[in-house]
Amino acid sequence: MQDLLFSGVKPTGMPHLGNYIGALRQWVTLQHEYECYFCIVDLHAITVPQDPKNMRQGTLDIAAAYLAVGLDPKRCNIFIQSEVPEHTELGWIMGTIAKMGEMERMTQFKDKSKKGGRERSGLGLFAYPALMAADILLYDTTIVPVGDDQTQHVELTRLLGKRFNDHFGPTFTIPELLIQKHGARIMSLAHPEQKMSKSDESKNGVIMLDDDADTIRHKIMRAVTDSDSGITYHEEKKPAVANLMTIYHHMTGETLEQIEKRFTGKGYGDFKKSLAEVVVEHLAPITKKIKHYREHPQDLMNVLDHGRDAARHVAREKMKLVRDRMGLGRN
Ligand code: AMP
Ligand code: TRP
Repeated sequence: MQDLLFSGVKPTGMPHLGNYIGALRQWVTLQHEYECYFCIVDLHAITVPQDPKNMRQGTLDIAAAYLAVGLDPKRCNIFIQSEVPEHTELGWIMGTIAKMGEMERMTQFKDKSKKGGRERSGLGLFAYPALMAADILLYDTTIVPVGDDQTQHVELTRLLGKRFNDHFGPTFTIPELLIQKHGARIMSLAHPEQKMSKSDESKNGVIMLDDDADTIRHKIMRAVTDSDSGITYHEEKKPAVANLMTIYHHMTGETLEQIEKRFTGKGYGDFKKSLAEVVVEHLAPITKKIKHYREHPQDLMNVLDHGRDAARHVAREKMKLVRDRMGLGRN
């Protein structure tokens, strides 16, 4: 059996540089080695309130971004989660396999429920990891490339898959997590102690894949740096500069040592100027393609139709086996 890769992004806005470096960019390389399923996880997005109009646009924006960064629809199945109802069905079942204590330990739930308080947080937000386990297990996924904020969810997926197999007989493949050494957690440019996130209050902290060149330059020139000078990589002592250097590394392919050498004796101003140019250069073709797909959304429709049909075919067969194993319904 060929190794299978599954991953996804929530349609809560245009992907940012953190999504790109932490996830999307690796996928472009990995698509040559694996059979791939890339999902637009709209059912996960609605675990916090969403405006319906923005959801539709956001869903197409993610599809556009997937293609614009270089995912090849001839190699990958790109689809919308809610168009394959088996995800919801297996998500429910996973909710019967998972324990409350396990779900309560999920840091994403703790973080996201902090704002409104636990009492007022949605049940769906709590159950989020059960649906994510379903996404992954439905396809006999062997590898899940994600940013490091998803590590705990993939570990829970492995646990639930194993528990199901032990209880009901071999049904699911247990997936491996794939995390990059550098770039699994890109930090905000404005608050380097927080990860770059669509919900960052400071718009200057986040570079969106559709930002124009001047906006990118403006955000990078305003990026927070560390108190002592010098372009050297030290995650604990110089977290802000380490983050900017990681971005530089991903945009150019230069190693961190090469970057240190290149900027020996130079100040933050020179470094930021150069960083702004390499980011602008790297993102320009991507931004242009995103714009094309926004103007020609019909180009996305065939890709999403094809992805949905391919995904449904696999998901339907797996759900037949799951129902059979659990004694659900009739023969
Ligand atoms: P999301 O937009 O939350 O659906 O995330 C999509 C993917 O991007 C997941 O694999 C995340 O782990 C990854 N990701 C999100 N934010 C970052 C970040 N700041 N740095 C690295 N990866 C990230
Ligand atoms: N929870 C992931 C995130 O916030 C998105 C996601 C949902 C996902 N289902 C998945 C990622 C399955 C990988 C595999 O980024």
